[in-house]
Amino acid sequence: SHPVPPELRADVAVVGGTGFYSFLDDPTHVTVETPYGAPSADLAVGEVGGRRVAFLPRHGTGHEHPPHAIPYRANAWALRSLGVRQVIAPCAVGGLRDEVAPGDVVVPDQLVDRTFRRVGSFVERGAVHLPFADPYCARVGDAVAAADVTVGRGGTMVVIEGPRFSTRAESLHHAAQGWTLVNMTGAPEAQLAREMLMCYAAVALVTDMDAGAQSGEGVGQEEVFALFAANTERLKGILATAIAALPDPDGCTCASWADGLELTYEVPGL
Ligand code: ADE
Repeated sequence: SHPVPPELRADVAVVGGTGFYSFLDDPTHVTVETPYGAPSADLAVGEVGGRRVAFLPRHGTGHEHPPHAIPYRANAWALRSLGVRQVIAPCAVGGLRDEVAPGDVVVPDQLVDRTFRRVGSFVERGAVHLPFADPYCARVGDAVAAADVTVGRGGTMVVIEGPRFSTRAESLHHAAQGWTLVNMTGAPEAQLAREMLMCYAAVALVTDMDAGAQSGEGVGQEEVFALFAANTERLKGILATAIAALPDPDGCTCASWADGLELTYEVPGL
């Protein structure tokens, strides 16, 4: 792959979710082509907290890609191709239990992948089985949690296929499993980041209580978007503080799992 010009390089990425379509002041926009097609949008590259940062809105700048049709592989490949080694991934989530409430920001430590119609891997041949017992980078997650006292740490996020919300029975089932949060985009984003040898941490903004935890009609799209809008600036502040405090990615197991393995797909810049 071609070397990246310095003004387009990035070490850190923020992948914005619902209601989160811009992050950087005065960015350079870069169109990246990938073997997996175009990413969700042009990447915006700039500087935050002394770090080179790329921003990518996973739903596109006008929310044109629904959760089940996001180009997840192109997104991960495009970030990596700019040099990104650490990804912070904000997302809107429903709360499944009393311990969380709308407005909470939580860095989960576990993931349950209940998606079933998405291409979830770069591996198309050979024996490449990535370790995924701990799906998130604890070092990046800790930096986000340390950025603000209000940020919660831990819990399990279940990712549903969408685009519909859960039925009440599904929601009660998820809660009965002990899971904390529900979302539609956290997989395959997390596993693709690891296949691209990038550290990755989800940052969940609770926008609603999911059907089983809520009385009445269940979740509606308006409350999700409104709650996100009310908290976007706070979330951006948390991310800026976290980025300035991120640890060095060198030596992190998020990348070193592949040492000595023969990867059967291209990792840009490796
Ligand atoms: N994203 C935001 N709220 C959600 C919910 N209740 N279920 C799934 N994804 C969500």
